[in-house]
Amino acid sequence: MGYRNLVFPEGSTFLVTGGAGFIGSNLCEAILDMGYNVRCLDDLSTGRKENVDMLLDRPGYTFIKGDIKDLDTCMKACEGVDYVLNQAAWGSVPRSIEMPLFYCQNNIMGTLNMMEAARQNSVKKFVYASSSSVYGDHPVLPKVEGQEGNLLSPYALTKRCDEEYGKLYKKLYNLDTYGMRYFNVFGRRQDPNGAYAAVIPKFIKLLLDGETCTINGDGKQSRDFTYIDNVIEANLKACLAPSEAAGEAYNIAYGGREYLIDIYYDLCKALGVDREPVFGPDRAGDIKHSNADISKAKEKLGYDPEYDFAKGIALAIDWYKTNL
Ligand SMILES: NC(=O)c1ccc[n+]([C@@H]2O[C@H](COP(=O)([O-])OP(=O)(O)OC[C@H]3O[C@@H](n4cnc5c(N)ncnc54)[C@H](O)[C@@H]3O)[C@@H](O)[C@H]2O)c1
Repeated sequence: MGYRNLVFPEGSTFLVTGGAGFIGSNLCEAILDMGYNVRCLDDLSTGRKENVDMLLDRPGYTFIKGDIKDLDTCMKACEGVDYVLNQAAWGSVPRSIEMPLFYCQNNIMGTLNMMEAARQNSVKKFVYASSSSVYGDHPVLPKVEGQEGNLLSPYALTKRCDEEYGKLYKKLYNLDTYGMRYFNVFGRRQDPNGAYAAVIPKFIKLLLDGETCTINGDGKQSRDFTYIDNVIEANLKACLAPSEAAGEAYNIAYGGREYLIDIYYDLCKALGVDREPVFGPDRAGDIKHSNADISKAKEKLGYDPEYDFAKGIALAIDWYKTNL
């Protein structure tokens, strides 16, 4: 169970793009804790240097401020690297609807540059962040790889394109690529601020600040909220997965289903707050329900998530109580 006992060749070097973001900074820290070298590449566009400043003095850690839209930067960052964990991208479905061109340049061209740099530098494994949004409007639950519907946002399209390039780079160049279809990740260091913040940290902050939360829609939408440590495990297990499992995308979730309205009242209870939410309109591009079948990742990557929602949310709340 978990990832802490996984073993890589001594002196292995990991490049984490988007390493100053929520998921990336947790990956950087976990890998350093396991005793391997970490190169963190980030342009600090949505991430924060404070997420990784505590790593600066640790042996084996390097921070590179750079943009994956620039191929030269990607090439230099990949020199001597064994494993790439490509997390750099802009998230948020509604923001992508406002800025479709930027999402194409950043999330598709950026990832393609990284894949090309990884190929030219003979990187062993290229693991990259995809998203459950690639399922689009396909109504069937749970979501199973291979049953995708029509896409609902430019963001989802960028992730679908990344997966297609991942498939092609395996087929044409034998680069071992693994797409991680994350389902609503949450946990320490996820940014609670700004119009595009994810719902869990946003609600925790508003409740702690004495403010009112707005729920988009009726609150009866459900998601497979996934604790950050499960995501770390998935990335590291993909790095150790056989080549036959490459060129594919995998659902990375816990396999549960939580309703937004229930989460709201659970958070109120855990934080000792007695306040009703207000309800706003549905958000464009959002799906009503999402929950993952994780049997493919279990079977082919040996993924065995350790944290269910209850265990993860308790840890996340503790973290926000002391760090906000
Ligand atoms: N958090 C989730 O629930 C979730 C769900 C599905 C997919 N994802 C994907 O996981 C990845 C990480 O997401 P996150 O939640 O940590 O977001 P985040 O915004 O906290 O982290 C993304 C990081 O990438 C960096 N970045 C963006 N564009 C860059 C560029 N061109 N060059 C260099 N760095 C760049 C940002 O500065 C930021 O530090 C993203 O690819 C996202 O699409 C996240």
